[in-house]
Amino acid sequence: MRLPRARPGAAAVQVPGDKSISHRALILSAMLPEPTSIAGLNRGADVRATVAALRSLGATIHLPATANKAATVRGVAQLRDPGRALDCGNSGSTMRLLMGFAAGRVNAVLDGDASLRRRPMARVAIPLRLMGAEIELRAGEYAPVTMHRSPDGLEGVDYRLPVASAQLKSALLVAGLRAHGITRVSSPEPTRDHTERMLRLMHASVAIGPRARGRTSVVCTVRPSRLRGPKRINVPGDFSSAFYLLAAAAALPAGSLRLVGVGINPTRTAALAVARDMGVDIRIHNRRAQSGEPVGDLVVRGGAVLRAVDVRRSLVPLLIDEIPAICALAAIARGTSRIEGAAELRRKESDRIATTVELVRSFGAQARPRADGMTVTGTASLRSPATADTHGDHRIGLAAAILAAAVGAPLEIANAECIATSFPGFLRTWRAAFGSSRGSPRP
Ligand code: S3P
Repeated sequence: MRLPRARPGAAAVQVPGDKSISHRALILSAMLPEPTSIAGLNRGADVRATVAALRSLGATIHLPATANKAATVRGVAQLRDPGRALDCGNSGSTMRLLMGFAAGRVNAVLDGDASLRRRPMARVAIPLRLMGAEIELRAGEYAPVTMHRSPDGLEGVDYRLPVASAQLKSALLVAGLRAHGITRVSSPEPTRDHTERMLRLMHASVAIGPRARGRTSVVCTVRPSRLRGPKRINVPGDFSSAFYLLAAAAALPAGSLRLVGVGINPTRTAALAVARDMGVDIRIHNRRAQSGEPVGDLVVRGGAVLRAVDVRRSLVPLLIDEIPAICALAAIARGTSRIEGAAELRRKESDRIATTVELVRSFGAQARPRADGMTVTGTASLRSPATADTHGDHRIGLAAAILAAAVGAPLEIANAECIATSFPGFLRTWRAAFGSSRGSPRP
């Protein structure tokens, strides 16, 4: 992909629908007897993998080609055994959430691409087995995931998550909806709560406990529930995609960018506080609620002099997908920024500690990997490499775009197809944000 040079402007753009919420909207709607229409559904490859898998399991999903038309989902009570492996592509959310959705209900194999086959799945299989599901993993850890029907169904579980993972929490809550008894999940730190919010929208019995006193633990309890549909779900714009554009606008010497209709759920937006600490001018307008999620318009101005930041480990789960963008900003900030407590980055679409450090260094800033994070020292003399390689990781491609904006030059991005896993139409939105055209249709 040849990314055109970003120019300061005053554009307003929309980003695609939130990927996390899109997966949940599809999977939970597939448990409803009545049809649900989903507006703003993300049309990237990851969400399409969830659509295809749910269809193979028997759900009826209508996905109009144009993204501004709503999708419709009609659920299925008795899942069908799919004839062949369900291809989750590059999407960890698809695989892990579907493990929870399908546990005990079908005989099925879940598989994915080379990157997904390297990512840990035992963290989901172990508690699902405690609930009574029979699941096999390659080498005890990896996809393909082979799932067997449990004639007696599942039992609820009281489980302490070994990692603060929203995907894992959500897989167990979704399985718990169909289990006998109560499912209780406690997490070492809060993580994104889209599943809990959507379950409430669907009248499920879900309670979120306070942090246990003296322990950093967040408890979430779900009782077996018959869900009732909201009929229509409006998916907000994806905060993570918006944050990468926001950071690119902040890296420009002037101008402003308005990102319209972005999800601003506090369990997702810790990166805003970090960027503000670095000196970025960000305002939120038009705050409103949409299908149980807070939404607003983000307005960012370029031209601020940025300073280094230390990202506290307790914030990491609330900005996990934005760390490559924060590191890109750190590359132009004064001083050395530190990120700790982020070992999970090694288990994302790429080893994001290694790939982020490599990317930042290729632009001439200093960066050092640590076991659980990295340090980045900013420079005033950033320069572009001949090409920046995504290593098959969409967030690395988007972080490269921020650095290109900071340099003020076009950029050749190798292996850029992966950007469309989360951000379909990225180039079009980039041109609308930083080119000569003003505004963009929803991609
Ligand atoms: C996601 C949760 C996060 C995040 C991923 C999407 C979700 O993963 O990195 O992009 O939709 O729940 P973990 O929960 O594994 O940390």
